[in-house]
Amino acid sequence: MDNIIEIESNSQVEKIVETIKTELDEQMIIYKPRGRKFLDIGYIPRNSIHREKEISRISKQIIEFVIDKTSGSLMMCGNSGTGKTMSYKLAKIVADTYMSDLGHEDYIVIYVTAQGTEINSLMTEICRELNVDAPSRGISFKDYINIIKEKCRKTYIHICIDEFDKLFFSRSKEKVEDVIYYFTRTENLSMTIITNRMNIAKDIKDSRVFSSLNTLNTISFKDYSADQCFDILSQRTKLAFNDGFVPENVLHMLCNHIAIEGGDIRKGLSVLGLCAKHAEDAKISTITAEIMEYIIEKYDILRDGENLKEQAVSGKLILSAIYSLLMSNQNSALDSRDVFAKQDYYRSTMNLPSISRESHSVYLTKLTTSGIICATRNSKGGRDGTTMSITLRYPRNAVKYMLNEDPELHGIHIIIEDELRDLRKDRLAASSHIQKNL
Ligand SMILES: Nc1ncnc2c1ncn2[C@@H]1O[C@H](COP(=O)(O)OP(=O)(O)OP(=O)(O)O)[C@@H](O)[C@H]1O
Ligand SMILES: [Mg+2]
Repeated sequence: MDNIIEIESNSQVEKIVETIKTELDEQMIIYKPRGRKFLDIGYIPRNSIHREKEISRISKQIIEFVIDKTSGSLMMCGNSGTGKTMSYKLAKIVADTYMSDLGHEDYIVIYVTAQGTEINSLMTEICRELNVDAPSRGISFKDYINIIKEKCRKTYIHICIDEFDKLFFSRSKEKVEDVIYYFTRTENLSMTIITNRMNIAKDIKDSRVFSSLNTLNTISFKDYSADQCFDILSQRTKLAFNDGFVPENVLHMLCNHIAIEGGDIRKGLSVLGLCAKHAEDAKISTITAEIMEYIIEKYDILRDGENLKEQAVSGKLILSAIYSLLMSNQNSALDSRDVFAKQDYYRSTMNLPSISRESHSVYLTKLTTSGIICATRNSKGGRDGTTMSITLRYPRNAVKYMLNEDPELHGIHIIIEDELRDLRKDRLAASSHIQKNL
């Protein structure tokens, strides 16, 4: 039987509706009507700036492939948030407009992303985009290729694979070279590869595949400078927010920070979103320089802290040990033996078995590879064997965030707070002793 929900006047539902109404009204101090969508990282502006040259090169290349019916490839490389996906999507609109003006309709240009997929699912998606039936499992890679080849007999196809480098890390990475080989050497078929890595050609072992990949036909997306970030983000700010919400000098602060960190516009948009959230909670209508500074720091810490939460528990305990030692030490470089001893103590408090020095080194290497710490071998080994000098590359507050947020580390967090409280007390006592003796 269906549940009967009786709505009385003044019921909970009405109260919530009222609260939402008030909250949305309050947002009007911050956002322009329907302004939120302009902060969406997936929003593609029709009038993008600073990428005109790239967009026209990509569209010209797609048009040439289609009109000349040639096979081959185009590569687009650059760091995150530099406008690659946006530029490809805009270039497709340009190419379609050009071709439709010419009355050219016998072609298909499709876009797929390799993010989070294996090659077979990617091939199924390509078939779906091409409007051809293909089973999602139970057929081989070569079968998919044959299905696509069959389609190419009737119409010219251009396939763009975004986030291509993700395929090199997938379970089916041995098929990556086949994808490049067939997609660049099949009649009536060409491809665009979008990647973060400038040198994906280095991962290609087969020389025939390497020669198929026309690495000279590459468009590089340079990191945005602070001024370019400012132009892009001030356009978005004007569309999203009421005048004066983010004053120019405050936006410049954000853009300088983004440019130093690699020119990722997505990060700028996320920080602006956090500014709006902050203003909503604090009921303010302008973001000051101090608030922007606080939010930029918080953004980095949140992101880094979330990354740390993904580590294995042994890695987290090593990080907790590093944090505790750094907070109680004047020195930013730590001795790996101290870190080993401290993490061993933390393990014992959690009733976890000890790990060997070798396993400890393995964890240090993992944390180094992830860019979280820097571990360098000391030249003198001494009696205890080779030692390492360890520095933390993430902000200490990111580890603090991990300790705060991770329920598994609750006990360790309390121990560290006690350790630091005791240390502060000792230091205070020592300094008052010195004062008295002066
Ligand atoms: N030149 C620009 N003008 C306006 N908005 C831009 C510009 N460049 C990037 N953006 C904004 O930033 C967002 C992210 O850009 P995009 O997705 O194209 O980055 P990307 O280079 O593909 O990054 P990734 O390598 O992480 O996939 C876009 O959706 C768009 O909103
Ligand atoms: Mg992209």
